[in-house]
Amino acid sequence: MSRRLAKSVGITATGQFYPDRIVTNHDLAKMVDTSDEWIISRTGIKERHWVEPGVGSSDLGAEALQMALKNRGIAADELDAIIACTVTPDMLFPCTAALIQHKVGASKAFGFDLNAACSSFLFGLSAAASMVASGAYKRIAVVGCDVMTSITDKTDRNTIVLFGDGAGAVIVEEVEEGFGILDFEQKIDGSGAPYLCMPAGGSLKPATAATVAAKEHFIHQQGQEVYKRAVREMAEVSRLMLDRNALDPKDLVLFVPHQANNRIMEAAAKRLELPLDRMANNIMYFANTTSATIPTAMHQCLEAGRVKKGDHVVFAAFGAGFTWGGMLLKWAY
Ligand SMILES: CC(C)(COP(=O)(O)OP(=O)(O)OC[C@H]1O[C@@H](n2cnc3c(N)ncnc32)[C@H](O)[C@@H]1OP(=O)(O)O)[C@@H](O)C(=O)NCCC(=O)NCCS
Repeated sequence: MSRRLAKSVGITATGQFYPDRIVTNHDLAKMVDTSDEWIISRTGIKERHWVEPGVGSSDLGAEALQMALKNRGIAADELDAIIACTVTPDMLFPCTAALIQHKVGASKAFGFDLNAACSSFLFGLSAAASMVASGAYKRIAVVGCDVMTSITDKTDRNTIVLFGDGAGAVIVEEVEEGFGILDFEQKIDGSGAPYLCMPAGGSLKPATAATVAAKEHFIHQQGQEVYKRAVREMAEVSRLMLDRNALDPKDLVLFVPHQANNRIMEAAAKRLELPLDRMANNIMYFANTTSATIPTAMHQCLEAGRVKKGDHVVFAAFGAGFTWGGMLLKWAY
């Protein structure tokens, strides 16, 4: 059975922001034992953006949100709420949503952070949509912002090549009947926790000199396990979105998978029997920006004129947890 919202709710504007500094594979090859050829062939990534020291996720998120507000033609004080989706909050508390709220001047908004790793944006979007559909809130900003370089070991070739910094934002509101979010599904399986995590710095293992020395404040990943599960779950949940809404893959104008690795994305598209020109793909220039991949990829497809009102779009996410999910939208503008 589809998960139907009580009202037609959808995305009404998007925005994005990346820091200026571009780090190429060649730059990384000077830092760790890797090569442009290895990184491109295994991941599809050519370059990524990195923040300068002193820049946090809220800085990137506030910029992306400003763009989304401008594109929607509204002021920040017209927002009812801000959901900041991030695994790299500026600080453990206060929440990044509060910092973004202050930076953009959203004087009437409340907000909170949501962390479901690379599924954060998708889960945040469905939470915002449900809050609007309840009738309690009119307009919510969902901001996916991550400074992945703050938790990446710059001496570890296994992870340093995969991630980038960036932010994407969307405005969520009631839309014309029959448009917007048609269906969504979200999943979580904590047995996947050991395969992708940051072991220390939380309540279980607070920061000590020993945890820092053991590099436990960085991403730890068993890449192949994550790879296999990501392909399977993103393909299955996307297929579910089509099947239970009686749609054929050829009815899909755009598939927006979490940009984790080009091979994962292409394998998922293949399982969906979807031509690759229907897939959003920006991983080559931005790498995996965690919570920002889906809103930025969607924003770029809109800018390129690849989607128009009424087109069917599927979002699919997969991340640490494990967490994963899919969403079917009939584009509302
Ligand atoms: C990380 C990933 C690209 C590695 O590709 P892979 O084909 O699985 O490679 P393996 O893990 O089998 O590693 C093979 C070898 O390459 C090496 N290697 C890893 N990173 C390397 C790099 N940047 N440059 C060169 N060699 C590298 C490994 O050390 C290993 O060497 P060894 O056999 O001597 O130990 C792949 O597993 C992946 O993309 N996984 C999913 C990651 C992801 O998307 N995470 C976020 C999910 S939200």
